[in-house]
Amino acid sequence: MRKMKIIGIAGSPRKGNTEVMVRAALEGAKEAGAKTEIILIRELKLEMCDGCLQCDEMGKCHFDDGMNEINERLAGVDGFIIGTPARWSLLSGNLKVFLDRTNPLAVPERLKGKEAGIIAVGQSPEDEEEQSIKKAVDSVKNYCSNAGIDVIGMVLGFNAINEGDIEKNVKTLEDCKKQGKKLVEHLKGKTCGG
Ligand SMILES: Cc1cc2nc3c(=O)[nH]c(=O)nc-3n(C[C@H](O)[C@H](O)[C@H](O)COP(=O)(O)O)c2cc1C
Repeated sequence: MRKMKIIGIAGSPRKGNTEVMVRAALEGAKEAGAKTEIILIRELKLEMCDGCLQCDEMGKCHFDDGMNEINERLAGVDGFIIGTPARWSLLSGNLKVFLDRTNPLAVPERLKGKEAGIIAVGQSPEDEEEQSIKKAVDSVKNYCSNAGIDVIGMVLGFNAINEGDIEKNVKTLEDCKKQGKKLVEHLKGKTCGG
């Protein structure tokens, strides 16, 4: 059987908790036999989508800032781990800019049928009434639904405010690892089932 390919996307502007969780999930995916890579949005210098929608006809973006190459990488994998810090109960601004720039993949439906695990982290405790971290996941789920990406599950990281706080939460990192494994097993099952 061919190796599954998974890309992790870490949507924080800092080297923080999101990245730790995404890396843990990729470790699980690797253990399950996948080829993995990570995109750190904090390292990219992306223009914001200007809404011209030329990409609907051209299949690529007129900005020459590396996103066309990244989109080809995204189109070439089987699944994603998408990680975001909770920001006002939403996905981060960085991740939103990145996801908007995947629009050249929309009309040809190049993301359709791929699968994703979603990760979100925040400072709130698990029993927070408003559930802002879960709401942040929901905002990423909306993107996946529009793009035709099937979401196989989510992991929420609580009580993490400073960089590295999440490393104290062994159970959460274990859950991320399990999510990565589950994603790969799911994709393998799909391939076997036709
Ligand atoms: C502008 C802003 C908004 C935030 N909104 C939330 C929120 O809605 N819920 C929450 O639990 N934490 C919230 N936080 C806290 C971050 O999610 C938290 O610090 C998290 O660990 C950041 O992840 P990172 O280390 O990957 O950047 C917010 C932080 C900032 C700066």
